[in-house]
Amino acid sequence: MSDFTSGFWSGWVIVLTLGSILACGLLLWAMTTKPKAKGEQVGTTGHVWDEDLAEWNNPLPNWWRWLFYITIVFSLAYLWFYPGLGSFKGSAGWTSIGQYQAEVKKANETYGPLYQKYLDMPVPEVAKDAQAREMGQRLYLTYCMQCHGSDARGARGFPNLADNDWQWGGDPEQIKVSIAQGRNGVMPPGMAQGDQVKAVANYVMSLSGEAHDASLAAAGKQNFENVCGACHMPDGKGNPAIGAPNLTDKIWLYGRRPTLEASIMETINNGRGGVMPAWEGKLDDAKIHLLTAYVWGLSHGGGK
Ligand code: HEC
Ligand code: HEC
Repeated sequence: MSDFTSGFWSGWVIVLTLGSILACGLLLWAMTTKPKAKGEQVGTTGHVWDEDLAEWNNPLPNWWRWLFYITIVFSLAYLWFYPGLGSFKGSAGWTSIGQYQAEVKKANETYGPLYQKYLDMPVPEVAKDAQAREMGQRLYLTYCMQCHGSDARGARGFPNLADNDWQWGGDPEQIKVSIAQGRNGVMPPGMAQGDQVKAVANYVMSLSGEAHDASLAAAGKQNFENVCGACHMPDGKGNPAIGAPNLTDKIWLYGRRPTLEASIMETINNGRGGVMPAWEGKLDDAKIHLLTAYVWGLSHGGGK
């Protein structure tokens, strides 16, 4: 209501609102049948059903009629205290944002010391604390589950957070950076051409002992070490600093569909660019700390 560009529309809404309440009152008053003196016959409304069933025009019972008047008085009082009339803010000063802020303030007062206690503890300690794990899990289920799954085991393109394989590093500090700042692994397209795509793909499969064609793999080795090795390292063990995955561990972020070879060739031809959103600014330090401990704990036996 406060975003009207001119005072006119606020006034217009006030006139319409008060006008219709007043009109309801007038209508009620005008349509009220006056009670007749004793013995005097009231008329019928003129409606007749089933040959002789007529509707008498008896006055409404007083309690019923007064209920209507009370709702009118109630609505006027409501509009006096609460916002509702154009941009008039109401004399009680209530706003939905104010109520929300009061609730947030109360929650912060209740939970603030608890959050602060965990924030001051190192991640492995927090991960050992049952209550902190529970709080971390609740945060995880609210903000992370959609992508990483309710069991944190991930899906195609969304890394498993419950194993000990880390694209961006599994130390508490690295996990915290992943959550706070987000991550965007960039594998550029066209890193190999022509026959080399299939050859290099088979070499990648050979690195982890997946079934592969040995002669194709041999043909792709040189290219892998020269080109792919720049990011994945010549031995294929990856580089967490740029999120280049370890290719020697049989864990495939982009899956095996329709076949592992086809999926790797698609990666080489089209590139990949997984995006992990940043949570800084959306979640405060204390919540990111609890989430870090929860995620770290998943691959460390719940911190035990
Ligand atoms: C500029 C650095 C860079 C180069 C060069 C590069 N990659 Fe990558 N690669 C990445 C990054 C980063 C990712 C992760 C992409 C993501 O997070 O979505 C990746 C992902 C992959 C994956 C997916 C792994 C999985 O678990 O599913 C494969 C396979 C792969 N690269 C193979 C190769 C091969 C083969 C070459 C050479 C032809 C190559 N890469 C060259 C950076 C690179
Ligand atoms: C919109 C989907 C999405 C949401 C929501 C999301 N993530 Fe991610 N996350 C990803 C993707 C995609 C990656 C992999 C990024 C890449 O390929 O470089 C990732 C990577 C990560 C990593 C790094 C994993 C590794 O192996 O190094 C961590 C840790 C992580 N996410 C934790 C979280 C937490 C905690 C939350 C909730 C606060 C969360 N994520 C919410 C999509 C998401």
